[in-house]
Amino acid sequence: MAQLSGSADVPDMGRRQFMNFLAFGTITGTALGALYPVVKYFIPPSSGGGGGGVTAKDALGNDIVVSEFVASHNPGDRTLAQGLKGDPTYIVLDENKAITNYGINAVCTHLGCVVPWNAAENKFMCPCHGSQYDSTGKVVRGPAPLSLALAHATVADDKLSLTTWTETDFRNGEAPWWS
Ligand code: FES
Repeated sequence: MAQLSGSADVPDMGRRQFMNFLAFGTITGTALGALYPVVKYFIPPSSGGGGGGVTAKDALGNDIVVSEFVASHNPGDRTLAQGLKGDPTYIVLDENKAITNYGINAVCTHLGCVVPWNAAENKFMCPCHGSQYDSTGKVVRGPAPLSLALAHATVADDKLSLTTWTETDFRNGEAPWWS
């Protein structure tokens, strides 16, 4: 630190990095402030990844309590949760309000928009370029080339576990493209 000879650029570098740091902090602080609810929803907690599966979490990052979830939703609902790798994943209630054994990854197979569920149309309809998927996430209209990915959904101890779906895709009888 005390030896300045031959390293005149060091203070400048330090200052530039500091300024970069300030600018970065300001920009990201502003962006995160504006996007906080959105970002928070889709960023998994540190335990969110892994190949062994995850516990589905709600928009606040809390584990979904199945009994409460079922009580507060309607038959046929498709509800976004945080799933494998933090991906937004629909939890599906059947007509008897039972959670189906599959969750549907909400990431459009075209260019990655999160696809909203349209209950009136009984389809997932992507707002970005018009792709459509049926109520199980099977693609029914392009430009999306593939159906939405599946995850196994298993209830245990009032929690909902999501694991990678490696078996045949029941919607088209083919091997899953996502695993
Ligand atoms: Fe969904 Fe293009 S990203 S249709």
